[in-house]
Amino acid sequence: MINDLAKYIEGANIPVRTTDGKVVKRIYFNNAATTLVLRPVMKKVNANVPLIAYIDAPGPLGKRITMKYEDVRDVVINFVGADASKDTVIYPKNSTDGINLLSDLFYQEDPDQVIITTAMEHMANYLPFTTRFETAVVGVTKEGDLDLDDLENKLNMYKGRVKLVTVTGASNVTGITPPIYKISKLVHKYGAKILVDAVQLVQHRPFDMKPHYDDEHIDFVVFSAHKCYTPFEGGALVGPYDFFCKYKPYLEGAGITNFISSEKVIYSDPPKRYEAGYPDIFGIIAMGETIKFIQNVGIDNISKYEKMLYRYMKKKLKNIPKVIMYAQDSDLINIPYIAFNVRGMYHTDVANYLAYEHGIEVGAGTAGADIYVQSLLGISPQEAYEKYIGGKNPGIVRISMGMYNNVGEINRFINALKKL
Ligand SMILES: Cc1ncc(COP(=O)(O)O)c(C=O)c1O
Repeated sequence: MINDLAKYIEGANIPVRTTDGKVVKRIYFNNAATTLVLRPVMKKVNANVPLIAYIDAPGPLGKRITMKYEDVRDVVINFVGADASKDTVIYPKNSTDGINLLSDLFYQEDPDQVIITTAMEHMANYLPFTTRFETAVVGVTKEGDLDLDDLENKLNMYKGRVKLVTVTGASNVTGITPPIYKISKLVHKYGAKILVDAVQLVQHRPFDMKPHYDDEHIDFVVFSAHKCYTPFEGGALVGPYDFFCKYKPYLEGAGITNFISSEKVIYSDPPKRYEAGYPDIFGIIAMGETIKFIQNVGIDNISKYEKMLYRYMKKKLKNIPKVIMYAQDSDLINIPYIAFNVRGMYHTDVANYLAYEHGIEVGAGTAGADIYVQSLLGISPQEAYEKYIGGKNPGIVRISMGMYNNVGEINRFINALKKL
């Protein structure tokens, strides 16, 4: 079954016309940006369309849709190994929204604290902190891994002032998966909490928050459904219920209060307190269904299969002399992404050539991880700025595969690249 998941995917292998008029099957290697969509998920979503009602609306259909929406919280709890008696699941619009929310709450807790983030992060897990707090940024090694000695130095340097360390569970550029449990142990030793940005992790690898008493426990986790084969907004921010009880909403509006008068506002308990405005009913139903699909296939099976794809792709790319791959000496590449450049060519030209002339879609640019990409390219901030001023932002080409890609697609991609 794992070899043939494309049959469950909308738009996989559809015919597309190339610049020279040939019709070829579409190949989608840009899953880190957003994935194609699971057909069974859409079927479930569509079945709910005629039965739509507002959350908490009176009547059986209101009750039904409310239950469907609320039940997804348990699906998420199970998916990330959270503790239903201690954790809560908030539905942000996406991970960016969830991380901004968390940043706001830590700011409410103490605006003078120091937050540690890393040079490997997507900007969604960087700017929400660097723009609000005094931050320390953990560097990366020449292999492209996180520098854990630097993390410990920073924890030491800011001892007593660091309350949160935020780190990616998997790089959206190189596919490196930092050792999150080793990191959480270290972070807890210094009395801080850890947020894992699992946006690129949960669809590729088993993930477990571990029990609260465990020093490897992950305090907060966030992910987005649209990277897990749904077409909608919607995601999850999971963390301790007691923590979320302490703060005011980040977004004000209706649906987040128990009582309001012109004199008094009493906020609802979490998670409702943090879900102002129209609830993303279909996005959340889709998230629940996609998680169940992934669990049915088996995340271990997905991981094994994708590792095979990654190794095959890497081997083939290594044989093309003009391809420069980044961070390929890391031992921690566990998701099927590869960042590369073609010697003498600008990254977007390579990506456009693949898309227009071969129907193969890949990413190009900085993938939202500007600082990491600059470090992989060995470019200083000043050099990066000069390139930007000159109209040529530095960047890479990124292949990001998913559970429905296959070896035949890799062969076609390699042949296309060889023709450059
Ligand atoms: C590692 C990582 N974190 C966060 C995000 C932000 O996700 P979203 O755009 O769904 O909020 C991305 C998006 O690519 C990402 O790759």
